[in-house]
Amino acid sequence: MTNSNGKTMIDLTIRLETPADHPLVSQINEAAFEQKDEAQLIVALREEGALRLSLIAILEGQLVGHIMFSDLPITRDDLIVDGVALAPMAVLPEYQNKGIGSALVREGIEICQILGVEAIVVLGHPKFYPRFGFAPKLAALLTSPFKEVGNAFMALELKEKTLSQGGQVHYAKAFAI
Ligand SMILES: CC(C)(COP(=O)(O)OP(=O)(O)OC[C@H]1O[C@@H](n2cnc3c(N)ncnc32)[C@H](O)[C@@H]1OP(=O)(O)O)[C@@H](O)C(=O)NCCC(=O)NCCS
Repeated sequence: MTNSNGKTMIDLTIRLETPADHPLVSQINEAAFEQKDEAQLIVALREEGALRLSLIAILEGQLVGHIMFSDLPITRDDLIVDGVALAPMAVLPEYQNKGIGSALVREGIEICQILGVEAIVVLGHPKFYPRFGFAPKLAALLTSPFKEVGNAFMALELKEKTLSQGGQVHYAKAFAI
């Protein structure tokens, strides 16, 4: 069976991360990014209490992918939009391009919607995230710490028009480390 991208569909389980998964989540991120920075960011986000949602993907009993969302209030005048940052996400190199990353993003968006999150922001691959509705144009309305990142800074509204008048994004402290 193939999905709309013509990729082979696989029998994948996606569930919430538990403390027992922490060492493997670190390993996946280190393997995918070929450095320790993202694994360290994950630990710092947990310690800061900024973690909103962390999901893992399991294939044939093996943990193969991970995605994390953390608190990202977006302020405008007296208004606070309940936003989250999607970061990091990783799939083990030997399991990439099989639809696992896409499944994690889709499940993450769905759960964020259930949690009442109003907007998701991501700094990432400009060719990957737009397929889920993330748009650089929407993110361009926001004031962020990023300069000259072009289309890599993207946003998705889960509540209509929540970002249309812009706002200032506030990343968790862990991102500054
Ligand atoms: C990005 C990542 C999570 C995607 O996971 P995945 O399981 O391979 O994703 P899927 O199979 O669902 O989709 C693959 C698509 O992502 C694209 N993609 C993967 N890495 C990409 C990159 N560095 N730049 C642009 N597109 C990328 C592929 O080209 C493919 O596009 P296509 O469907 O048009 O062919 C995975 O490649 C990864 O872990 N990369 C290393 C870590 C990383 O870059 N994390 C994201 C930071 S924003």
